[in-house]
Amino acid sequence: MTHQSVTPCAVSSPALSAPSPSAPSPSEWWRDAVIYEIYVRSFADGNGDGMGDLLGVRSRLRYLADLGVDAIWLTPFYPSPLHDGGYDVASYRAVDPRLGTLDDARALVTEAHGLGMRVLIDIVPNHTSSEHPWFEEALRDEPGARDRYVFRPGRGPGGAEPPNDWESSFGGPAWTRVPDGSWYLHLFAPEQPDLNWDNPEVRAEFEDVMRFWLDIGVDGFRVDVAHGMVKAEGLPDAGFTGQLKMLGRAPLPFFDQDGVHEILRSWRRLLDSYPGERIGVAEVWPPSPARLANYVRPDELHQAFNFNYLAADWGAGPLRQVIDASIAATDLVGAPTTWVLSNHDQVRHVTRYGGGRRGVRRARAAALLTMALPGSVYIYQGEELGLPEVLDLPDEVLQDPIFFRTAGADRGRDGSRVPIPWAYGESSFGFSPPGADPTWLPIPRDWGGQAVIPQLGDPRSFLNLYRNAVRLRRSHPALGRGAMRWLDSPPETLFFTREPGLLCTVNLGAEPVVLESPGTLLLASSDTRSNGLQAILEPDTAAWWSCATS
Ligand code: GLC
Repeated sequence: MTHQSVTPCAVSSPALSAPSPSAPSPSEWWRDAVIYEIYVRSFADGNGDGMGDLLGVRSRLRYLADLGVDAIWLTPFYPSPLHDGGYDVASYRAVDPRLGTLDDARALVTEAHGLGMRVLIDIVPNHTSSEHPWFEEALRDEPGARDRYVFRPGRGPGGAEPPNDWESSFGGPAWTRVPDGSWYLHLFAPEQPDLNWDNPEVRAEFEDVMRFWLDIGVDGFRVDVAHGMVKAEGLPDAGFTGQLKMLGRAPLPFFDQDGVHEILRSWRRLLDSYPGERIGVAEVWPPSPARLANYVRPDELHQAFNFNYLAADWGAGPLRQVIDASIAATDLVGAPTTWVLSNHDQVRHVTRYGGGRRGVRRARAAALLTMALPGSVYIYQGEELGLPEVLDLPDEVLQDPIFFRTAGADRGRDGSRVPIPWAYGESSFGFSPPGADPTWLPIPRDWGGQAVIPQLGDPRSFLNLYRNAVRLRRSHPALGRGAMRWLDSPPETLFFTREPGLLCTVNLGAEPVVLESPGTLLLASSDTRSNGLQAILEPDTAAWWSCATS
């Protein structure tokens, strides 16, 4: 067994991240906020149709307040034909009638605020639904209507080939031909035509949409595909196939063009013109950490998702490397880093980390590692319950366009979107009211034990680990905003301080590690024995220590 002395209160190595300018709450609340992602259709069903809705979210706000999160982010709840889970928006100033009404949205915002939580909503500016009135006008070729989208003549004899070689993120070409022979661009599904952001009408419309929701009181926006709105001049070929495999690795002519930053700056001005620190969060997959930092310059958005952290393998080397690179990139522009382990597009991390007992153990340790890092943390619904990806959904219930556009070769993202189990043994595990329709995706029959209510009653549950971690993060501001310093540590471990006074130790290896004088144990992801002088950190375990001795 490796022995390691740790003296968290007396370290002299340079700080990796300086303390953020200490600011009284709620100033710059987003710098260290814990933000909870609600995939609305799968969170809680209030009206009994088997699909989550705003009434369901409202009925569970107390649960979220008790979890201790600072803000919630709601995925799209707009009217939508659901060709891409609501990311195909048919009307931007309304609520899908299956999910509620505008009054529900207003009440949700008011009630969340009353419980001390802010509310972010998704905005989808890269594309509309093909059922949006603008696209219907474009199909009819009404004057000026096609200029709101990206229509082009085809190439080759009779224009029968797409205008360029771009590929859709969901598989197949990024172009679809309309009956009169013209082609339109869709970086995602054909039912999601890309907007033309060179058209001032498009820009004005989105500013107006944002004002509509800001006036209702939302605290900001998660900007879908924030790197996609502007395309390279002349729409040049990418020059190779398998373009999406290069996402986040190499420049692409349809993502991360410099022109998007002018749009984001105008949105920052808009957000800043409202009181109460409204924020923007970019969903971006730029080709380098430095390009990611561009999105969070002081006059652009407040946060950008850090998907490199999510993509890192479970190991001390890869995680330390990505943590250092992420912090270095956002420090360059004075922005906080975000830490994301899962979301509605990704395989849940219990499964990514190996599944079964090992995946659960690692996911618990990852939670404490993540919540000890400087910056803002995102929790995807169900992550706090330790839910795995559902890998065996039958073909006939799958809805993700990825499944259809790859002819089943990729089963898509539905496995991370299965409804949340709330209660043991009830029909639909309490997701829907009694007597409701079947849930829109089936909940695995063995999820009862992972439901919220039984977990609340078990002090060692996943949920109570999250509740304790979020609570400690709140009561120890050093965890969000203090300086971070790496300490020397044995191979396959990560030790660092958050100052003043806190230590995080993570053992990612296969052998237990003995810690000498780590301080007082605050929280551990699995059983950790400590007698005040020595402690044993088991494999795949993280622990937080206070340097105040007991
Ligand atoms: C984002 C969303 C994803 C959606 C895509 C297209 O990546 O998170 O769910 O399919 O944008 O809108």
